[in-house]
Amino acid sequence: MALPGFVKIVEVSPRDGLQNEKELISTDIKVELVDLLSEAGFLNIEATAFVSPKWTPQMADASDVMARIKRRPGTIYSVLTPNMKGFEAALAAGADEVVIFGAASEAFSQKNINCSIAESIDRFEPVAQAAKAAGIRLRGALSCTLGCPYQGEVPVSSVVDVAKRFAQMGCDEIDVADTIGVGTPQRTRQVMEAVANVIDISKISGHFHDTYGQSLANILAAMEVGVSIFHTSVSGLGGCPYAKGASGNVATEDVLFMLRGMGIDTGIDFDRVVDIGQWIAGHLHRPGGSRAGNAIAASRASR
Ligand code: HMG
Ligand code: MG
Repeated sequence: MALPGFVKIVEVSPRDGLQNEKELISTDIKVELVDLLSEAGFLNIEATAFVSPKWTPQMADASDVMARIKRRPGTIYSVLTPNMKGFEAALAAGADEVVIFGAASEAFSQKNINCSIAESIDRFEPVAQAAKAAGIRLRGALSCTLGCPYQGEVPVSSVVDVAKRFAQMGCDEIDVADTIGVGTPQRTRQVMEAVANVIDISKISGHFHDTYGQSLANILAAMEVGVSIFHTSVSGLGGCPYAKGASGNVATEDVLFMLRGMGIDTGIDFDRVVDIGQWIAGHLHRPGGSRAGNAIAASRASR
């Protein structure tokens, strides 16, 4: 299969990136991060999550973040909504896309959203219907598709079953997520091909955490199957508080460097993204988490 000429990057640092930070980050910094990303040309930014503040305190200011960001025309601002309470808040905040998030593993579903997979589907149905009625885009995130921190191996059939349910609910996009970053290219290809047998490939995205350093290889494997949407996070921020041992998402700078080198367009200003990665890492008092971003920043400094 020919590689895509254009890849849509969904920038998840404001949500996946910051949700896992131990120290509370100010709303000002969150808003500035989203605004800088908008200016860099991202077509889709996952801005925040309307989840229970008891479960994920870092996202408690979701409404404020949404009210204060400057929206770039043409950019989709997505938010996580686990239930109707989250959906109603997202609707009031003017989200362009709501994300229901389930899992291919029972154990992770219980840990992350406190219910079984079947119960989660029942909870998502009204959210999906309300999103359709309101004319808002609907995305389904599917965790633990390449392995689970509690259950270990996850059968491909479990991934396909939930993906099918998401498609039946009318999801415009479905994220095949490697929550703990254990997937390797052969398995990634196998899972993506299996999902593509039941869902149009143009609706499938890859969401890879880079815990074991496999993400770039997995993105290439997924592109070879025809996937052309990937989730990334500046400076490799990220991780799910309910996935033991999970570290950040694949760094946006690394993915953009690879895609640019392969002649694949994203519409994003790479130099600005390097600056954003270094800026947010500085705010979090740590070195930049992108190899490409750090290399470029170092070469600029030595000029
Ligand atoms: P629960 O405790 O079973 O729900 O949590 P509940 O209905 O009993 O509600 C408990 C309290 O939360 C109540 O407040 C509700 O009002 C409140 P109280 O009456 O006790 O004062 N509440 C809410 N508040 C604000 N917004 C809401 C909301 N819902 C309930 N939407 C629930 C169930 C799903 C709410 C909870 O488990 C939850 O919020 N989980 C989210 C955990 C999370 O944020 N995980 C990280 C995001 S997922 C992820 O990172 C994976 C992903 O990146 C893909 C990948 O990498 O795999 C997407
Ligand atoms: Mg994630």
